[in-house]
Amino acid sequence: MTSAPQPGQRLLRSLVRTKPVEQSIADTEEPEHALRRSLSALDLTVFGVGVIIGTGIFVLTGTAAKNHAGPAVALSFAAAGVVCALAALCYAELASTVPVAGSAYTFAFSTIGELPAWIIGWDLVLELALGAAVVAVGWSGYVQSLLESAGVTLPHAISGASTGGWSFNLPATLLVAVLTAVILAGMHLSAEVTRVIVGIKVLVVLIVIVAGLFFVKADNYSPFIPPAKTVEGKSGGATPLIEALFGYTPTDFGVMGIFTAAAVVFFAFIGFDVVATAAEETRNPQRDVPRGILGSLVICTALYMAVALVVTGMEKYTELSDDAPLSDAFKAVGQHAFADMINVGAVAGLTSVTMILLLGQSRVFFAMSRDGLLPRTFSTVHPRFGTPTKAIVMLGAVVAVLAGLIPLEELSELVNIGTLFAFIVVSIGVVVLRRTRPDLPRAFRCPWVPVLPVLSVLASLWLMVNLPVATWWRFLVWMVIGVVVYAFYGRSHSRMGDPGRARTGTSGPG
Ligand code: ALA
Repeated sequence: MTSAPQPGQRLLRSLVRTKPVEQSIADTEEPEHALRRSLSALDLTVFGVGVIIGTGIFVLTGTAAKNHAGPAVALSFAAAGVVCALAALCYAELASTVPVAGSAYTFAFSTIGELPAWIIGWDLVLELALGAAVVAVGWSGYVQSLLESAGVTLPHAISGASTGGWSFNLPATLLVAVLTAVILAGMHLSAEVTRVIVGIKVLVVLIVIVAGLFFVKADNYSPFIPPAKTVEGKSGGATPLIEALFGYTPTDFGVMGIFTAAAVVFFAFIGFDVVATAAEETRNPQRDVPRGILGSLVICTALYMAVALVVTGMEKYTELSDDAPLSDAFKAVGQHAFADMINVGAVAGLTSVTMILLLGQSRVFFAMSRDGLLPRTFSTVHPRFGTPTKAIVMLGAVVAVLAGLIPLEELSELVNIGTLFAFIVVSIGVVVLRRTRPDLPRAFRCPWVPVLPVLSVLASLWLMVNLPVATWWRFLVWMVIGVVVYAFYGRSHSRMGDPGRARTGTSGPG
């Protein structure tokens, strides 16, 4: 006769209990909690491009070239693209095996266990909700500079200006409110809006590439990789973790500078993983989600490299502007009309990034709530719109307030660390699921497992340790809060803790 498990054992079991893939798929069929399936591979690719192209290419290209890599910033985009491609292949395999809303959260629940899944769901708030707020604030900056060129200046109190006393960022809040309404109305409308916006921004990016080619001067590429320079040591919270721990100081320029810049432009790729959150709203998810993830990543990497080459060819990298390098490069060659058009493209670009990050976050909340880790009411789907309306409204309100009230520049690196952590968990998940459930049908198989997922973990870790110590502290504090919330709410409300459902569960990997 076996004795009943001790409380400590019960706790441990609940932390590592996994949700069987079959159960995740069955949950998508509960009528009250089922999302509507309307998306195709093309829609997903458009979503991917919609969320990927944004602040990264329109803003960070200048800083990365000027301060870290010179014209070789094009290679930095390639390097960051490779890191993302490794993770993308892992996302693609899991999305084709567990085609359920929630992305990394759902994958972790099926592979590693409930607590890691909760942690990753909590972590995704940094990428998605915080990311949406950060990008909304960037959008507001672009809109105000366009308004200023038209002679309109917003009163200080509602401009969100970081200098001259406290001010509310009304444009950022309004953007989030409007986008929340679009998302509420359903996936179909969100997809239509995204299509139009993505059309505009891709057109603008192509114009930059083609028109810019006429102004490229070969001299500007020399030297293509400027000579290496040791970075002056940073102090306090700004020190990269790798320097604080091991005394290694990252270099600017030279070959290693390409990788320093890759950590900066990584932000430009954030978002391809959001495609996986829409798995449950895709008509043929096993086939189309991998296509959407990989397709959008390939398209964006090619566009980024081309833009970086053209812009550093138009203007000497030392002269590029920090705020608006693309439009300023055109101003520098006397092409002001092109510069205005690029600003319009940037506004469009940031609109769709904000919208899709919000959308992704609402689907992660939805999945966590359906599992009982958040209140179940957030996973009720509206009968007419087919969307989780309560989750969307709650989220929209929080992000709108955050974007309006809090200066966010300091927090933007939290978005990177949160995303990289999710990459690591997903890469590990692929290896775990291959071992625990080799029998599952996988419409897409990541090549060279376990070598490729291990490389993905190492590459993501490398970018993480290059982030400042202050970012790590903020990340750890956020995670500790998450564990406390789980201890007091999620663990006891989890539907996997319900004996009737748990009968079909397993008690952990292996
Ligand atoms: N990749 C997105 C951007 O660059 C988050 O804005």
